[in-house]
Amino acid sequence: MPKTHTRYTCQQCGHEAPRWVGRCPDCGEWNSLVEEVVVDRPARAGGPRALDSEVNAPQPIASISMEAWTRAPSGIDEFDRVLGGGIVPGSLVLIGGDPGIGKSTLLMQACGRLATTAGRTLYVTGEESTQQVKLRAERLDTLAPDLYLAAETDIERVEAYALNLKPRFLVIDSVQTVHDPAIGSAPGSVSQVRACCARLMRVAKSTHTTVFLVGHVTKEGTLAGPRVLEHMVDTVLYFEGDRFQSHRILRAVKNRFGSTDEIGLFEMTDAGLREIASASELFLAQRPDQGPGSAVVGIIEGTRPLLVEVQALVARSYLASPRRTTTGIDYNRACMILAVLEKRCGMRMSDKDVYLNVAGGLKIVEPAVDLGIAVALASSFRDRAVDPRTVVAGEVGLSGEVRAVHQTDRRLKEAQRMGFTRALIAPPPAASAAPEGLGINAVRSVRECVDLALCDSGAPASEEDAFAEPFAEDED
Ligand code: TYD
Ligand code: MG
Repeated sequence: MPKTHTRYTCQQCGHEAPRWVGRCPDCGEWNSLVEEVVVDRPARAGGPRALDSEVNAPQPIASISMEAWTRAPSGIDEFDRVLGGGIVPGSLVLIGGDPGIGKSTLLMQACGRLATTAGRTLYVTGEESTQQVKLRAERLDTLAPDLYLAAETDIERVEAYALNLKPRFLVIDSVQTVHDPAIGSAPGSVSQVRACCARLMRVAKSTHTTVFLVGHVTKEGTLAGPRVLEHMVDTVLYFEGDRFQSHRILRAVKNRFGSTDEIGLFEMTDAGLREIASASELFLAQRPDQGPGSAVVGIIEGTRPLLVEVQALVARSYLASPRRTTTGIDYNRACMILAVLEKRCGMRMSDKDVYLNVAGGLKIVEPAVDLGIAVALASSFRDRAVDPRTVVAGEVGLSGEVRAVHQTDRRLKEAQRMGFTRALIAPPPAASAAPEGLGINAVRSVRECVDLALCDSGAPASEEDAFAEPFAEDED
């Protein structure tokens, strides 16, 4: 009988300790060490191991065959885009997300298409029965003769199925439900997840099968066993979105075979996930007409130009230190722009509560959104709407200057496509041709931009006007 011993493993970072401590000495997390039983395997007798195959033997780089090493398109363009242009053979892809966000749905749809167009696909489910998965597949209309299904949680059997069936694509739904019987700890613990992931990686690299792992997200919003898994796999994707809204965003966090700037957009419908090709339409769909505190910005997400709405609410504060809340926008960036508006445009923000939001749940890190934040804030501050056919884009500097952003042409073209008639941007460095029907105003400073954006929208309101009315009602 093999001997066993116990060790304590941090569930956050995978640090191992011989005895329990309250705080992980490696990552500093409290109360994260869990006892695990390890089976000691007898050491192998000396001498090199006889190799069972020569598939991975060293070769001169020039003579490595690239046959069957082209990316396979999944047939879902948004998915391919995030993967960097298709599925790389032999890669290990982790898809994380909140429960119920649609990970299984996305992979089932991808599997249906892959089994039809690219080759045999094995879907291993540890969470549902094969009947339940089939029911879903029927509803999604992804039944394909080359799509195989197994309800299994034992990693050794999964490995055996993969080696017998030789699928081109293998899905493990989810990595937290499979377990390695040689390891004593419960499924989902860091050592189990790590061991299973390592075994699946060997399958992927030796047979050139692409393995998709579904991973659940912990309360804190990271993948369970986060660092351990993220290091081991080739690509980490997050599937996110509001469960109360129908659109979902697929985002690459790490990608060895492509850029991590791309996002994929989907809509959850009763027939599964539908791709959203025109993202701007989605993000501008529920924009109020003529409401103050709203500005449309042209941004670039990955390689895709997008128009999004920035919303601001500036309200009189009754707190000693006024509240500033941002959603989808960097907090420090917003504070900087508030300071610029106060100092360079004479808007007194120091006694106002400020709320900023990007409509549709996007997070924008690009500096081009600065000008949109400034215009939305000024619009709410002065209680005057921005013309709904005006788009802005530009970075704001500390002295209130507006700086040019890259790929202006593509932003302008998207604005024109969406029917916008005016763009406020930094002076273009070269004479870039304006798309037809789109008037371009070059703005050098935030002040100039705000004045232009708010110029033809109703009677000018002074600061007193903007803040007098709503509170006058409260008084009686
Ligand atoms: P699922 O893929 O099971 O989520 P995950 O694997 O990430 O936990 O998706 C479940 C949700 O998706 C569920 O709330 C119902 C919804 N859904 C639809 O709206 N339409 C569909 O066609 C399918 C299959 C699911
Ligand atoms: Mg699922």
